Parts: sequence; structure tokens; C-alpha cells
Amino acid sequence: MTELTPVLSAHWDEKDSFTIEAYKRHDGYKAAKKALAMDPDELIQIVKDSGLRGRGGAGFPTGMKWGFIPQGDNKDHYLVVNADESEPGTCKDMPLLLANPHVLVEGVIIASYAIRAKHAFIYIRGEVTHVVRRLNQAIEDAYKAGYLGKNIFGSGQDLDLVLHVGAGAYICGEETALLDSLEGFRGQPRLRPPFPAIAGLYARPTVVNNVESIASVPAIILKGAQWFQSMGTEKSKGQTLYSLSGHVANPGQFEAPLGITLREILELSGGMRAGHTLKFWTPGGSSTPIFTDEHLDTPLDYEGVAAAGSMLGTKALQIFDETTCIVRAVLRWTEFYKHESCGKCTPCREGTWWLVQILRDLENGQGTEEDLAKLLDLCDNILGRSFCALGDGATSPITSSIKYFRDEYIAHITTGGCPFDPVASTLFETAAK
Ligand SMILES: Cc1cc2nc3c(=O)[nH]c(=O)nc-3n(C[C@H](O)[C@H](O)[C@H](O)COP(=O)(O)O)c2cc1C
Ligand code: SF4
Repeated sequence: MTELTPVLSAHWDEKDSFTIEAYKRHDGYKAAKKALAMDPDELIQIVKDSGLRGRGGAGFPTGMKWGFIPQGDNKDHYLVVNADESEPGTCKDMPLLLANPHVLVEGVIIASYAIRAKHAFIYIRGEVTHVVRRLNQAIEDAYKAGYLGKNIFGSGQDLDLVLHVGAGAYICGEETALLDSLEGFRGQPRLRPPFPAIAGLYARPTVVNNVESIASVPAIILKGAQWFQSMGTEKSKGQTLYSLSGHVANPGQFEAPLGITLREILELSGGMRAGHTLKFWTPGGSSTPIFTDEHLDTPLDYEGVAAAGSMLGTKALQIFDETTCIVRAVLRWTEFYKHESCGKCTPCREGTWWLVQILRDLENGQGTEEDLAKLLDLCDNILGRSFCALGDGATSPITSSIKYFRDEYIAHITTGGCPFDPVASTLFETAAK
């Protein structure tokens, strides 16, 4: 069976894991020193060779993205780290930053040098005040130690790192909306092309990467591309953070090679909560089509999950047992998308509103079979017709739940109410006692 492989999370259980002293105790900042003595192109090649793919959802090869930045163009280049993490179920970047903010700072130093950037930004969601404080402290300590600022490690390289606190909007995780927000505008997606690599922040060549992507770089530089490649599957290399949440015995972060299965993760983590069985789950957060117990042995890598009809996304494994009403869960997710829709395009702005109205009727037992057809028709008009992937993501829970749990939708219609209400009220009464 595949074993857990803690790399990013290796020292999270140490009391002072978030301090610069603890980080240095475990070889912290050695990779940055090594990197700054190398040629930037050599670094990009190592990251390409490692097979590291972006951990923000789409799985785009990180080294290739860095390679898109035009060189010798006499323009400022920027690195922007996406720490917005707002998708329901996704909860890996915040624990990582809370437990070890320095690994991100070190990754930023290396990535900035590789793409020839002298300014880097971390865009973090506003609600996570405790994480913001930790990260601020880490940046301050790195400046004091001479790892940021002028002439880092005496290499002649300069780098300034700015932490930008957003106001808390899911759409600001979409990379171009993030850039608009960072520039001081309302966070709404931009038309592409031009892509950020050509005209990103302040219309300059910009790399936008997820926290975990950048935090994975120091270990690759220190241990080598081969080491990283030795974990994972043919096209999905390395280890990664799987976030287990919901109706399980031990929710939390489980770091394992790409390609591990949910069955294995449940075995390693203590399984479902006692006395309950798996009903449905998301492989990568609420915008990825749901899976059921049929998919317990699906390899959790980019190819395996796609072949089974979903997306690996952020590897947010949200687990729901048999006490959960699928219609209620999907309604809650859809209310989120309706609330977070930025309003720029009609299919998503209007469509998510209508999806909520119909799902509310269905959940309350006031829907009809025609409503199911209407839901699917609306999804068809949103998917692929929206301006950005938020609209597409909103349709995933609906279409996939109707595929696997049509009978449960029908039961709401035929019984004129939610069949789970008695269970919900019994659970509520037990909890209240
Ligand atoms: C609505 C929406 C929200 C997103 N939120 C995030 C986020 O919070 N963090 C993130 O890294 N990527 C998020 N993304 C993906 C980013 O647009 C982008 O692909 C990613 O930051 C690239 O980093 P990577 O190549 O390292 O994965 C989001 C995308 C969409 C459409
Ligand atoms: S799909 Fe939704 S979030 Fe994206 S641009 Fe359109 S309205 Fe805004």
C-alpha cells in the first residue's frame, strides 16, 4: 500500500515549527543559497525536469510556466503567490502557512530569481488574520536575516516581498481577478490573451503560482529533480497535500504521493467516523464533480481522476456519509457560487441565481421532475459559456449529483419534502441533550 510521505508537513508537530530557527534547524534557506549560486535557466530546467505541476487546481507544469516569461526584455517581472484559498473544502495552504511560513518565503526567493523578478507579492485572503500575522512575522524575520532585501546571501540579487491582504472574495483566487484586485481595482477576471506571462501585474510579465507549488520548490532544489520524480505516477509527479474533511474519524492534512487512492488515505487516517458509511465525496473541492463509493480505488492523480469523470483540483477530499442529504449539500454549495459570482457575465450571474431558486424548491419538496430537466438545461447554458471557471465550477455538483443520486432528487418530489429531515431532527435532538 502507498505510504504517507511527509515533506512539506514533516515538522508541523514541532512546537516552534513556524519560526525561522526551527526552519533553519531542518536545512531551511539552504536551497535558496544553493539556487542563487546557479544560473536562473538551470533552475527553471530543474523544476521542469522534476515534473512539478501547479497545486492551485489546474495542474499546469510549473517549470513550463516560468519558462514563458520573456527574457532580456528590459521589463520588470513579477512573481505573485496565490494564497486566496476560498473554495469550499479546500484547506491546505492555510495550514501550511500557519505551520511553516518560511518554506513559502524560501520558495519565493528561488522562483523570483529564476524568472528574474525583483518584486514578489503574496495575495492572501483577508479573513485569516492569524495566518497573516505568521506570514508577516516570517517575512520580517527573513528581511532581518538578509534573505530578503538587498544583496541576498551576498549574491548581488535584490528581492522585495509584499504581503497583500485581500478583502475575502472567492473570485480573487482566479489569477487575473487577483491581479486586478492587487492593482487596486474591483476583482474581476480579465480577458485572455494576453496571458499574465506577457502582460500580468501592471501589464508586466508575471508568474502566478499557488502557495503549495512555490513551497514545493526548495525541497526539489535541495534533493534534486530525480528525487521528486521518484514519487507519484507517470504524468503526475511528486508528493502533495490531501486535505481530508467531513465525516471522517481524523480530518486533517495527509501528505502522500500523487496516485494514492481514497481507500488508502482512509485506511491510513482512521477511516469514516464510527458506525457510518461513505455516501459521496469531492476529489478536489466543491467545483469538481462528486464521486461515490464506486470511486474509492480511483488513483488520485490528474489523469486518474479525469478518466473517472472529475478533476483532481486542490485535492480537497470532502467526505459525506449516509446521513447527508445530497440535495441539501448541493444547494449549500450552489448558494456559495451565487453569492461569489462577480456579476461580470450573464450566464453565471443570472444562472447561479436561478439554480438556487430551483434547488430550494426541490429541497423543500416543492419541485417537479421538470425542474430536474431545467436544472440540467441551465447548467448546460453556464458550462463553457461563462467568462471564467467559477461559472463552470458551479455546475459540477449539480450535474454529477443528478447523475449518481437522481432517485434521491425524485424522492424529494414524490414525498413532498426532504426524506432526511427525520434523521436531521433526530441528530439535532441528540446533540441538544
Ligand atoms: C474561481 C477561482 C478561484 C480560484 N482560487 C484559487 C486559489 O484560491 N488559489 C490558487 O492557487 N488558485 C486558485 N485558482 C486557480 C488560479 O486561477 C491559478 O490557476 C493558480 O493560482 C495557478 O497556480 P498554479 O499553477 O501553481 O496551480 C482559482 C481559479 C478560479 C477560477
Ligand atoms: S463566470 Fe461568474 S465569476 Fe466568472 S466572470 Fe462570469 S460572473 Fe464573474
